[in-house]
Amino acid sequence: MIKGDGIGPEIIEQAVRVLDCTAGKFGFTMNYVPMDLGGCSIDKYGVPLTDDTIAQAKTCDAVLMGSIGGDPKTSPWYRLDPKKRPEAGLLGIRKALGLFANLRFSVLYDDLMDACPLREDIAREGIDFVILRELTGGLYFGEKKTETVGGEEVATDVLSYSESEIRRIAVKAFDSAMLRRKKLTLVDKANVLESSRLWRKVVGEMAKDYPEVDVDYMYVDNAAMQLVRRPSQFDVVLTENMFGDILSDEASMVVGSIGMQPSASLAEGSFGLYEPSHGSAPDIAGQDRANPLATILSAACMLRYSLGEEEAACAVERAVMDVLKLFRTPDLKSENDNTAVVGTARMGECVAEAVRNQK
Ligand code: IPM
Ligand code: MG
Repeated sequence: MIKGDGIGPEIIEQAVRVLDCTAGKFGFTMNYVPMDLGGCSIDKYGVPLTDDTIAQAKTCDAVLMGSIGGDPKTSPWYRLDPKKRPEAGLLGIRKALGLFANLRFSVLYDDLMDACPLREDIAREGIDFVILRELTGGLYFGEKKTETVGGEEVATDVLSYSESEIRRIAVKAFDSAMLRRKKLTLVDKANVLESSRLWRKVVGEMAKDYPEVDVDYMYVDNAAMQLVRRPSQFDVVLTENMFGDILSDEASMVVGSIGMQPSASLAEGSFGLYEPSHGSAPDIAGQDRANPLATILSAACMLRYSLGEEEAACAVERAVMDVLKLFRTPDLKSENDNTAVVGTARMGECVAEAVRNQK
């Protein structure tokens, strides 16, 4: 369990509350090992990720994480060398634990229709897709350097992918598609980038092994537009690291709030790290205003993918849907819904109660 920075501790507290209550109901026990990552690790140990944290994480079945980072304008963490900032810890733990497949879900719940910023006729077509973002390769992990050339600074980030890196996440994408609506969209920039052309080639070859999956190829600029124009067309979206980072933020807003988007970062096997897609929101930290639902839904993903507790996962997801009929955190509230505004802790309590009261 990594609470992290900003709103991290508050939202994790609520996810733990819901997990414990769900475990009690379904007859299993959760054991939490607290670990440090990000800013709080810098404060204690001078680095955002310690070998100890990596070693401890490896002894667990899964990692549940809040959020890391601070306000770059005011936090002393951002006066450190980029390699020692909170975000480096997050990238480091993803790499160290082999978490190459990041799943970010966008589902528009009926009861959140009014929180959706898209036109009603578009929202009514239904939104239910998952972005599979490659998480340990590409630009974020390629060689980086800043040098002086001809009297001026030149900065370089290398974007490279190998066939095997593409294939191992594409397998997860095809398998997900088979369990869903059997539609896969590869998002790339194959009209410009060499690495994208390799993604197309590998995915195109693999498509032959999945004849039932309808495979579509889309340039990332068009995908950014299609996500708001007609999001109902997407089922599984497969893409490289940076495109996935950008599109998943857009995808979260399409379903009402980034405070609703859970994520699962999976390694080979059943191990995974589960964290909300949103950041640490230092501006509202400690005010009992943060929406804990993305973290609670990430905990449900953890029950499903790493702990083998599918029924418990569904119970948590159902509880969230039930609670949204009556209560909202401020980020989800719109003028024309007749729900009550609640804080972080009360929201967690409501979800736990809803799990407890399920038949
Ligand atoms: C995310 C975040 C991270 C990323 C940052 C904090 C390094 O934006 O999880 O999407 O880019 O992966
Ligand atoms: Mg991001």
